[in-house]
Amino acid sequence: MGVQISPSAQTEMKSTKQRGEKIFILEALKKFGQIGSIFPSSKYLAKSIAECIPNKEDVVVVELGAGTGTITKEILKKISITSSLIACEKNKKMAEFLKNEIHDPRLLVIEGDAISMQKVITSLGHHKADCVVSGIPLGTLKKYEQDMLLLTIKELLKNDGVYVQFQYFLSTFLNIKRYFKSVKIKKYVLRNLPPAFVYKCQK
Ligand SMILES: C[S@@+](CC[C@H](N)C(=O)[O-])C[C@H]1O[C@@H](n2cnc3c(N)ncnc32)[C@H](O)[C@@H]1O
Repeated sequence: MGVQISPSAQTEMKSTKQRGEKIFILEALKKFGQIGSIFPSSKYLAKSIAECIPNKEDVVVVELGAGTGTITKEILKKISITSSLIACEKNKKMAEFLKNEIHDPRLLVIEGDAISMQKVITSLGHHKADCVVSGIPLGTLKKYEQDMLLLTIKELLKNDGVYVQFQYFLSTFLNIKRYFKSVKIKKYVLRNLPPAFVYKCQK
């Protein structure tokens, strides 16, 4: 039997989604270089990304550039009740939105830069992550910033961990390949604005 969602809960969910979209669009218009897109990811892209998370109990997932939480919510649907998700977002308004709107004991939202996530997860008592999901627009970063971020992600991951990155272009493929032995394009999601590639990478 499916879960019944009352009409008032459906209206609340719809208005939360609209508030998130409004914050995202306004922030993107102010800081396009940092955000890299005008619209949050679609649920189709979010589902394709969540499918790449390892099917294990007790996983530690780190999400970098969580925005207003479209992918965060799909990750929470996918992981087990004893797993944890640490979602990092640099934009203050989006981080506040995430903290106020997604209530789940498995989720911890960190307002800050992805580069500092190794310190954060160590301070939380997790040595490494099973999966890093990133929506950070690598293509808008300078080469040395890309390198620093890719090194951070590699450091964050367990040896058998999975790094999932979505990108609108293939321009960063070769640079990712310098840091990860296996870089596969799992999907090209057309139902997203703009359409996006989902990369699944392993050390
Ligand atoms: C393309 S948006 C994706 C947002 C969300 N994951 C989604 O799919 O709708 C990229 C996000 O990464 C965030 N971001 C960019 N650089 C970052 C960094 N160095 N550390 C943390 N977040 C960052 C931006 O603020 C923005 O919210």
